[in-house]
Amino acid sequence: MKKNAAMPILPVEAYSSQDWYDREQERIFSRTWAFAGLVGDVSEPGQYVAVQAGLNNIFIVMGEDGQLRAFHNICRHRGTQLLRAVGKTRKVITCPYHDWTYSLEGCLLAVPDRRNQFPDLDMASLGLKKASVASWRGMLWVHPDENADSVEKWFGGVEPHLGPHKVEELVEYKKGRAEYDIAANWKIVVENYIDGYHLAHLHSGTLSMYDHKRIESGFVGPHFFFWEPLSPEYAADVEKKAPSPLVIPAEQAGAWVPMLFPGIGLAESEDSWSVFHLTPLAPARTRVVVRTKMADASLLAFASQSLRSYNFWSNRVRGKYDSEDGDDPMASGDFMQEDIYACEQQQRSLASPYFEHGPSALKGEAGVRQHQELVMAWMGGSG
Ligand code: FES
Ligand SMILES: [Fe+2]
Repeated sequence: MKKNAAMPILPVEAYSSQDWYDREQERIFSRTWAFAGLVGDVSEPGQYVAVQAGLNNIFIVMGEDGQLRAFHNICRHRGTQLLRAVGKTRKVITCPYHDWTYSLEGCLLAVPDRRNQFPDLDMASLGLKKASVASWRGMLWVHPDENADSVEKWFGGVEPHLGPHKVEELVEYKKGRAEYDIAANWKIVVENYIDGYHLAHLHSGTLSMYDHKRIESGFVGPHFFFWEPLSPEYAADVEKKAPSPLVIPAEQAGAWVPMLFPGIGLAESEDSWSVFHLTPLAPARTRVVVRTKMADASLLAFASQSLRSYNFWSNRVRGKYDSEDGDDPMASGDFMQEDIYACEQQQRSLASPYFEHGPSALKGEAGVRQHQELVMAWMGGSG
């Protein structure tokens, strides 16, 4: 007889201490490819996007030659951040502090009052420091190291498990953009994402259109993959009511919900694709930005599909806990609110002297344990 695995692999401090958080920023988030947006975000010369990758602030800019380049967002004079997260397209990059000016290719072009103030300045050695940039599956990625291994090498093994949509061909559904500020450590949010055990319980009223008994999941390298088919009842309903053929083959319809390391969740359904980008802000604070794309032809179909899904869900068990509270997340009918509620409550409990980890589900929480082992390995074994 198999035994339940022992928990915890990571100590409580891993979810609550500033020291752990700081070391994760250095050892994990500064040494991996970071999600920087969708390819459409930087599509003409002078357009840019800035992103935090662990301890590094990096911007991607398109040059006059149409090439994407990434630079550390640090002025070579006294280090001021050059570009804010979003802004107008520009021809040159000028530091706000003393107006040192750089080309879109990262060369230092001009220094005010140079002859009097910096008579010996070697302009050629003061170009912006390069980082790596890549586009992969319709997304932009940066790595602080200009000589990083390729993004294909980093994600290659997991690619066949990510889902059937061609992300590059989908269009962004701007109204689908959402941002959440969650009062929980980033690993609690990731563990919730890859926990198969909670789906039939926490989400009994919201995700019942999937067949949680037929989950296929696991890790390829540091990346987690997950797929579950539509429930037979819901699949029959979709087929009956679909106004046009589904965008993907029926046997692939379901939820593809991988979690790329560290903290880049993807989610594909029969007619949409989303990225669930997690940024740690503090030991117990995580920002999640969700962006969604859809097949062009399915925009209309999507609206009607959502309605069908909603009607289907609302016939299900709603409001697991009887509550007079109109804001009860468990009665919201929104699985994100349910997840956020669970994550935040779990984080709160970690502060209690009475908290201890209970036994861990053999299969349903295997991914959670593997993720904890992975984090421990990246942290150097002992944390
Ligand atoms: S710090 Fe950028 S010009 Fe001085
Ligand atoms: Fe969930």
